[in-house]
Amino acid sequence: MAIDGPAGSGKSTVGWWLARRLGYHYLDTGAMYRAAAWKLHRSGIPTADGTGLSEAMNAMEIDLCDEPTGLRVLVDGEDVTAEIRSPRMAMLASQYSALPAVRARLTQLQRAWKGAEGVVAEGRDTTTVVFPDAELKVFLDATPEERARRRLAEIEARGTGVDGPTVRQEIEDRDRADATRALAPLARASGALYIDTTGLPVEDVVERLAKEVERLCSTGS
Ligand code: DC
Repeated sequence: MAIDGPAGSGKSTVGWWLARRLGYHYLDTGAMYRAAAWKLHRSGIPTADGTGLSEAMNAMEIDLCDEPTGLRVLVDGEDVTAEIRSPRMAMLASQYSALPAVRARLTQLQRAWKGAEGVVAEGRDTTTVVFPDAELKVFLDATPEERARRRLAEIEARGTGVDGPTVRQEIEDRDRADATRALAPLARASGALYIDTTGLPVEDVVERLAKEVERLCSTGS
């Protein structure tokens, strides 16, 4: 099943718990974009160099290790779990994610991940481009205030100081870029279940989606 939505809509938390509840694998496609951006930025390949980017993407190994305490992300064996979560890396991921060479390779890796069986994938284009035939497609949303509040709480929990208006601006800029780019923009897939998670406990959203997946599996529709 696949979940898309803007930053702070609850995709990662819901996806992580839903995968546990269903016994599925959790695929955080945003973590892949962040990891690729981290590596490409460090390599200094110009964003206009499509061939260079393709070669770098094909040579890059990204591992997502689903551990009981959370997701561990490795790029070419280097642990980048903490580093890729900064607001700066989020912005870089958004910028690199608009490039064809980056999207082509990551879409390929995502479709092949764990044989694409029993996967909860989440991101911006998992319901529209990566897994358009997913058994269940979901679009999660929340008010801009709630999304900024969640993102701020996440950043503060990591011990990084940042102010509320900056976080809100960063989310707005990134959502605009992600939803208006030419390639695989964030959009509601036709037939996707829409849930506004503002004020909803995570457990309620997870339970509702788990029931929906179980219902679809039992009816085979
Ligand atoms: O979900 P996230 O905030 O970790 O994603 C970081 C960026 O990666 C996001 O701003 C856009 C890009 N991304 C994407 O283009 N397609 C996806 N399926 C997931 C993320």
